[in-house]
Amino acid sequence: MSGEEAPTQQQQPEQEKQPDEPPPAASGAPPEESRSSPAAEEKSLSSRALVLTGHGGYDKVKLQVKTQSKQLKAGEILVRVKACGLNFAELVARQGLYEMLPPPPVTMGMEGSGVIEAVGEDVKDRKVGDRVIVLSRSGVWQELVVVPADRTFPMPEQMSFEEGAAIPINYLTAYLMLFEMANLRPDKSILIHMAAGGVGIAVTQLCQTVQNVTVFGTASASKHETIAQGGVTHPIDYRTKDYVEEIRKISPEGVDIVLDPLGGSDTQKGFNLLKPLGTLVVFGAANCVTGQKKNLLAMAKTWYNQLSLNTLKLMQANKAICGFHLGLIPDEELISRTMFKLLELYGEGKIKPRIDSSYHFEEVTEAMKRMHERHNIGKIILLPEPKKEEEKPKSNAEPGENAEKTEDAVDEQKEEATEEVKAEKD
Ligand SMILES: NC(=O)c1ccc[n+]([C@@H]2O[C@H](COP(=O)([O-])OP(=O)(O)OC[C@H]3O[C@@H](n4cnc5c(N)ncnc54)[C@H](OP(=O)(O)O)[C@@H]3O)[C@@H](O)[C@H]2O)c1
Repeated sequence: MSGEEAPTQQQQPEQEKQPDEPPPAASGAPPEESRSSPAAEEKSLSSRALVLTGHGGYDKVKLQVKTQSKQLKAGEILVRVKACGLNFAELVARQGLYEMLPPPPVTMGMEGSGVIEAVGEDVKDRKVGDRVIVLSRSGVWQELVVVPADRTFPMPEQMSFEEGAAIPINYLTAYLMLFEMANLRPDKSILIHMAAGGVGIAVTQLCQTVQNVTVFGTASASKHETIAQGGVTHPIDYRTKDYVEEIRKISPEGVDIVLDPLGGSDTQKGFNLLKPLGTLVVFGAANCVTGQKKNLLAMAKTWYNQLSLNTLKLMQANKAICGFHLGLIPDEELISRTMFKLLELYGEGKIKPRIDSSYHFEEVTEAMKRMHERHNIGKIILLPEPKKEEEKPKSNAEPGENAEKTEDAVDEQKEEATEEVKAEKD
């Protein structure tokens, strides 16, 4: 075995070992909310939560029982969470590479949906029983979450909890990049990588709201039929083909917009693929991630190959380069306005999240694995409700689909086997 224990496929909740919040002053007494006096119990709530306990592999995300104060501050609401979204950022955060997440131990989760159980003072436009979408920097992967009311959005009646949890991060990112940064207009062409993922599908759907947009999308071959049905004009298998060549065969002059979540040499390729007056939006560095653990070599390679050019060259190229990071947008009004716009588009039937699969909290390892191993088409959802014994994970995958093993998964197994051998020798 390697130094770390093999991940448990299905976790049983542990009692909370360390609270998310800073510990109380060292008095030797247990934290206030952990004392079992009836008065303290009345003021506290316990709920199951997925807590990042350290940086590393799957086993760092643990199902724990947390206690928190029932006392709501002015403007806050208490939500019983019904579904949460899993994002690529959480895989990266688990490896210790996402600067927006507070250090462990910390409850993960940036988005979810649920039902309001209590409202604090001054909350006028939300009431107990309302179904809401929740957006937060962290902390949503738990049964009960306290959030500011203005970070929640009323769910349309016909929207499922899974859909509600799938909207905020993917669709805000897609919408703001397309319409605030890249200024998508009719008759334009666009390249989106990871086209079958959460953001990729959101981008594709939003492109359909504009007339005559040609979408080039890279994805694993088994996903092409689905993404073509969803609106990708030209799906490209980046694993077996050179996507630059494929695009040039169809559109020799290149594309108007490139959305780049990969980084490294792909940013350079994206820039070269732009037509004059085209826009490149860099919004991720997925090339740094090769498996469940941090890979310093991949990080160094991505960093070394990143695009670097001077502004004079940029002027002569007649191209624009933008960087996008949803978590670093300080304008909360813009975020709220965009969320309401997205809910309107949902109501009009113009966008609809594709739910790839849903996993109970106990199965969080399998959920993360599905994304790391590149099997998902659309959004992976985590469900706080405890798993019933006979239940299997709900998945949208076709029979036989995704049967292939990724090179990364194979590499990872090799890497782990090597570690095991090394540990045994030691
Ligand atoms: N800057 C921002 O504000 C922001 C916000 C949200 C997301 N993002 C970025 O957008 C990208 C997509 O995020 P998402 O949450 O929607 O995830 P996702 O696309 O659902 O991610 C999983 C899919 O990405 C593809 N992929 C490509 N490289 C991968 C790698 N190294 N490891 C695993 N999968 C890889 C795989 O599909 P195929 O093999 O089919 O391509 C996989 O199924 C990520 O880079 C994320 O960091 C950025």
